[in-house]
Amino acid sequence: MTRGDILYSGKAKTIFLSEKPDELIVSFRDDITAFDGGKKDQLEGKGASNAGVSAFLFGLLEEAGVRTHFIRMEDPITMRVRKLNMIPLEVIVRNRAAGSIVRNYPFTEGQYFNPPIIVTDYKDDTRHDPMLNDDIIVALDLLTHEEIDAVKASALKVNRVMKAFFDGIGLDLVDFKIEYGRYGDAIMLGDEISMDSMRLWEKGTMKSMDKDVYRFEKGDVMEAYHAVSARITGSR
Ligand code: ATP
Ligand code: TYD
Repeated sequence: MTRGDILYSGKAKTIFLSEKPDELIVSFRDDITAFDGGKKDQLEGKGASNAGVSAFLFGLLEEAGVRTHFIRMEDPITMRVRKLNMIPLEVIVRNRAAGSIVRNYPFTEGQYFNPPIIVTDYKDDTRHDPMLNDDIIVALDLLTHEEIDAVKASALKVNRVMKAFFDGIGLDLVDFKIEYGRYGDAIMLGDEISMDSMRLWEKGTMKSMDKDVYRFEKGDVMEAYHAVSARITGSR
């Protein structure tokens, strides 16, 4: 593997150029942050845990026909991906009410959404990621109306595939955030799908097995992350 200059260093990952112009190297760091970076720590093994789970889920989704940026793991914290022109949207799918939707609207924590709810936020930390609607997305030239329909259909498919998988390993997929990017004419899934970007509850309970353990100091974060990784590994 040839790792070139740093293209971007975010809150949890560093993105490097590679020897190929259309591929990037993503390094998953041990940094964990919450509340717009207001709370931050380093947890040994967190990068490897998230990288492994992300790689597994991208593989699962590819098998189901969802196009992703994932190419291969180079080592336990390093992922080779297709270089996408990221669309600055956070596409959030919710099967049950938790987090901001409970804070902002009169829903009860844990309430089921059937059909699932899709929310799209504008990815811009300086504006605190404001929620968008379809007309704003089109007016901002982020996606056409047809592309919005395709992205929503894709997000629902991602949800169906992952929800069924997690159900099989005793975890309830409460919600998750995904990001899409352009690769030539195609729109594909990028970034990561990990315990940082999903809410997973122990089935039959509301026990968090994700970043909420860190956000709200509900116990040992790495114990939860390792438990999810171990269940995924055990399922293969
Ligand atoms: P946030 O935590 O809000 O996602 P961040 O920028 O701090 O923001 P990191 O995960 O540390 O997040 O950084 C990863 C960055 O790389 C994100 O900006 C993401 O959109 C971008 N990215 C992910 N996958 C790709 C890809 N395949 N091609 C280009 N950029 C990508
Ligand atoms: P949400 O409830 O909107 O935000 P918060 O975590 O502040 O309560 O989050 C919904 C899901 O999306 C949750 O699993 C965390 C994930 N998410 C991210 O990974 N990054 C983000 O910037 C946001 C807003 C959510």
